Order: sequence, then structure tokens, then C-alpha cells
Amino acid sequence: MYQLSPSILAADFNCLGEQIRQVEEAGVEWLHIDVMDGAFVPSISFGMPVIASIRKNSSLFFDVHLMIEEPGRYIEEFKKSGADMLTVHAEACKHLDSTLREIRKAGMKVGVAINPGTPVSQLECVLDLVDMVLVMTVNPGFGGQSYIESCTGKVQKLRKMITDAGLDVDIQVDGGINEKTIDKVLDAGANILVAGSAVFGGNIGENVRRLKERMERR
Ligand code: DX5
Ligand code: ZN
Repeated sequence: MYQLSPSILAADFNCLGEQIRQVEEAGVEWLHIDVMDGAFVPSISFGMPVIASIRKNSSLFFDVHLMIEEPGRYIEEFKKSGADMLTVHAEACKHLDSTLREIRKAGMKVGVAINPGTPVSQLECVLDLVDMVLVMTVNPGFGGQSYIESCTGKVQKLRKMITDAGLDVDIQVDGGINEKTIDKVLDAGANILVAGSAVFGGNIGENVRRLKERMERR
């Protein structure tokens, strides 16, 4: 399964609902929602009230990326606001195993993320608890950054770890994904691609169609 998950961090918040409608109309099924707390990452984005508000007019799969310290504190609240999946950072959880289990118990899909400086070996003990691993391909905090080349090898390594373990886990990449970088992450084994500026910069419908076409060729 391949999915394009447009990151609304790059959307125009003045007409957020309309822009979400446009990606939906272009045939997207997932929406990437970046929550930042100003502590785990330098910037602050938005939280539950925004998610609850866009939930009212969208049936997209809400892929919520939590760039917050100790996200285990807010699992129920994100569930209530309409999240379908919560992805938490391995670096942000003291008790990663239990946080991942709690997300599952709350009835959501489970994701775990690692920063560019974190090795994939750190995930060995939790791989069987997750539906998806998010390999960050920029240091989280801001949209519009350039893809970090050393992350390609991490995706390859992780795909091998998953296959060797006989598991069915999606690999998501996030940061600097555009028409120039899309082929190498797909070749490396990623199957869920986040794109912010490459979707919301310019003509949304056309951007989605071009990126999706590259994924559908696989
Ligand atoms: C970065 C966020 C990303 C970001 C991607 O901290 O997690 O989701 O919005 O933006 P682009 O695609 O512009 O690099
Ligand atoms: Zn993200």
C-alpha cells in the first residue's frame, strides 16, 4: 500500500478547510497533522482544537505526528479530537513501550518516529507494537527544509529489519520529500510519503496528481 500524506503545516491556515477539501478531491486518503510543543522541537504549531475543527468536514485518515515531550499524557485527548493514528517520537518517551501500547488500547493506529540522529536499531524492541515507523528525513520543527541524504540508508536498513522479522509495518518518510527526492525514498522501501511544501506550494491538485503518479508507477 502506498499513500501520500500531505502535511497541513504548509497549508494556508486562513483557508485550511478549503485546502483540505482540495487534497481530498485530488484523490488523497491520508492527512499529515504536525503537532509541535516548543519543547521537543523549537517551534509551536497547533493542537487538539484545530484537529477537532477540521475533523467535522473531512473523512480523510488523520495521521497525527506528535513532536511533543511525553505524548503519553495526551493520548485520550487526541483520540477525542479525531486522530486515527498517533505517531510519537522514540526520543520523547521515557516509557516508549507503554506509550505505544496505550495508543493501541485507545483504538488508534500506532506509529513511532525517529530523528535523523537516532539509529534504527533503537526500534528493535518495539517493532512488533507499531503499524508504522516514521523515519524523519529532516530534523523536525519546520517545513521546507532539505532532505538529509544519510536517511536513505536508514530506510533501507529498517525495511530489511521489518522483512527479516516477518512483520507488516509501513515506513513513512517526512521532510524534504518532493519530485526530486521521491524516487530514492521509494526505492529504499518507504511506502507512506509526507509532503508539505511540495503539495501546498502552488497548484494543490496538480502537485498531488504529479506525486501520486510517481507512486502509482511502482
Ligand atoms: C517537520 C514536519 C513535516 C513538515 C514537512 O518537522 O514533521 O511534516 O511539515 O514539510 P516539507 O514537506 O515542506 O519538508
Ligand atoms: Zn510531520
